[in-house]
Amino acid sequence: MRTTPTWLVSEPCTDVDLGVIKSGKEAQVHLIERTADATAEQVGGESCRFARKRYLPREVKQKGQLEALGFQRSSAFVNDVQYREGRQFRKSRDRRAVERMSTYGKHLLQDRWTGHEHEVMSRLWHAGMTVPYPIAYGDDVFDLEYIGDDSQAAPQLQAARLSAAQLRDAFDQLVAGLRCMTREGLAHGDMSAYNLLWWEEQLWFIDFPQAIDIAANLQGLDFLHRDVVNVCAWFQRKGLDVDEEEVFADLLVEI
Ligand SMILES: Nc1ncnc2c1ncn2[C@@H]1O[C@H](COP(=O)(O)OP(=O)(O)OP(=O)(O)O)[C@@H](O)[C@H]1O
Ligand SMILES: [Mg+2]
Repeated sequence: MRTTPTWLVSEPCTDVDLGVIKSGKEAQVHLIERTADATAEQVGGESCRFARKRYLPREVKQKGQLEALGFQRSSAFVNDVQYREGRQFRKSRDRRAVERMSTYGKHLLQDRWTGHEHEVMSRLWHAGMTVPYPIAYGDDVFDLEYIGDDSQAAPQLQAARLSAAQLRDAFDQLVAGLRCMTREGLAHGDMSAYNLLWWEEQLWFIDFPQAIDIAANLQGLDFLHRDVVNVCAWFQRKGLDVDEEEVFADLLVEI
């Protein structure tokens, strides 16, 4: 079991937003500086930096957008959400609100979406995978370990300049991460060189809101296969000789 990282300063504390690291269509990621307050219990003054992901409400605006996210029917999505979180919209009022996508229904889904990413990353972090430490989540925000330094955030794998040896190493780390995730019964669902960061010789896995439980989802293996094919295609384009079907077959052994 991994223990809470020592770099995280304790509460009570004061957070200052240092600006946007990356702004996109689904989320905006900010750099936050947290300083411990001085109280009777703590001296205060220690500080740390982390990333704060703010989800934009786009994802759950309309049923059609859910389909665009890869779910064939909105009801299938609702089922996925139920499965993924291991609990259900028990109240029929909540279920109907989600199915009708009323304002209240959207709020329920958005909340689960945010919580889901935190939950998945906590599981994977504890399983030893190279994911940023998930600190906490609230309504539409998710705080997590920042990957980078004072001068720059870690580049996405697609933008990193890797030597041939580093490319092979990144691929080996990718397979190790995929194995870990599959062993945990999860598929990322949006695996690409945009959702991997490269920093100090390490490959970091990020962006898990759409992660699914392989066994509980009818299309679980299809999602896993699509992830493997997509990300292997990137390595192949970079000149690495990798066989996506071999990688996929090796992962199936982990299930
Ligand atoms: N912990 C982190 N440390 C450093 N940079 C990060 C971190 N998390 C995210 N980023 C940066 O922010 C980008 C967007 O984050 P993420 O992929 O989680 O959100 P997204 O929903 O895909 O948003 P978008 O639509 O902008 O791609 C990442 O590709 C990465 O460049
Ligand atoms: Mg992303």
